[in-house]
Amino acid sequence: MATSELIICKDPEGLAAGAADLVIRAGREAINQRGRFMLGLSGGSTPEQTYKLLTQPDHAAAIEWARSHLFFGDERFVPLDDARSNFCMVKRTLLSRPALSQAHVFPMVTPGKNVRQCAAEYARVLEREFAAGANNGPPRFDLILLGLGEDGHTASLFPGAMALLVEHEWVTWSPPGTAPPPVNRITLTYPVLNTARRIAFLVAGKKKASILRKVLEAKPARDACPAAGVHPADGTVTWLVDEDAAGLLTRRS
Ligand code: 6PG
Repeated sequence: MATSELIICKDPEGLAAGAADLVIRAGREAINQRGRFMLGLSGGSTPEQTYKLLTQPDHAAAIEWARSHLFFGDERFVPLDDARSNFCMVKRTLLSRPALSQAHVFPMVTPGKNVRQCAAEYARVLEREFAAGANNGPPRFDLILLGLGEDGHTASLFPGAMALLVEHEWVTWSPPGTAPPPVNRITLTYPVLNTARRIAFLVAGKKKASILRKVLEAKPARDACPAAGVHPADGTVTWLVDEDAAGLLTRRS
């Protein structure tokens, strides 16, 4: 059953704390029920504070990171040590402490391969790690963290992009979208996002207030506002937002 919830946090620090708690709850439930935690990480700047918080001793000890498998919702097609890389950001934040380095991490960019080959290779990684296949449908993540761009993009699903139309691939590539940096992208597709047990959008700041109200209250078409296309048929969408981002909402729950 599809459900959604809106959680309004006082400020970015409160959002990071709420997101860290949500990751820990999802991780413990997944490991208890299925023996492992399959987590999709968001790029961008909003999740950085959450990733840093998860490295703090009390949080780091809360999940068996050795039984956690960390994937990416999207990636910029740049070297893994490039400051624009989401993998590089995650390595600098979430994976900066030994306790979390036990986690199994799957970067989207494979050195020496072009962007199309990286997307195809990542789909094979998902097939192997989730033991999923065409016959039993897309990989089912326990939790995927996503951001929201001011233009309504999420992951690297940009307005009007061909990637929005991909229904039979789990990973695809996209030319530079409407958000910086202007580089080719690799992204999970709607079939994977909409198979997740839980999606958590992390949205902070006044600049996101207009697009957040549009997504939550105007029910826009996903072609114009890709985040509106994320609604797992058998999962929960949690909108974790701060007061600044929630400033234009007419409904607060
Ligand atoms: C990326 C992200 C992207 C991001 C949004 C919001 O690779 O940049 O995946 O989808 O989540 O653009 O970014 P901020 O959190 O920086 O506002």
